[in-house]
Amino acid sequence: MISKKMSDSLNNHMNLELFSAHMYLVMSSCANDFGLKGAANWFFVQYREEMIHFMKFYTYLTDQGVVISIPANKDVPNKYESLLEMLQKTLSHEGMITSCINELSELAVQDKDHATQIFLQWFVTEQIEEESNDRDLIAKLKLVGDNGHGILMIDGEMGQRVFIVPPGSPLAV
Ligand code: FEO
Repeated sequence: MISKKMSDSLNNHMNLELFSAHMYLVMSSCANDFGLKGAANWFFVQYREEMIHFMKFYTYLTDQGVVISIPANKDVPNKYESLLEMLQKTLSHEGMITSCINELSELAVQDKDHATQIFLQWFVTEQIEEESNDRDLIAKLKLVGDNGHGILMIDGEMGQRVFIVPPGSPLAV
């Protein structure tokens, strides 16, 4: 049986995933406002992925007999100067999420909670990919600087991103 401390910590993190989804949905809108349809697509796909992450936590907790709580969400930022700024904020946000996942994993080990350790493994791997994707895009944007043609090329690349429902996911949104 899952401990109260563990389930509260997972519930807190579930809400962080929901915040992430909302943050990326707003970024998608901002990218659209910049005229960057490809980046808007990229952030919209990210939003959908975060909703899957949120639902993974939701399903895990409810399967464990936990009644979840969702407090009022804090304000989601909606002012950005550039695509580079959005991706830098994305990378720093994902770094924070990675730290939280690692802390949850540590707690699951201390609790000898094998089920939660296994559940969290998927997220440990996922965070490596998320941060790597962000770093690649930031490096490319720094290379092109203010060159509009270069930014549009990167925008075109971001427009190719496709949402794929991970196998066994609780909900396709
Ligand atoms: Fe769900 Fe981007 O971490």
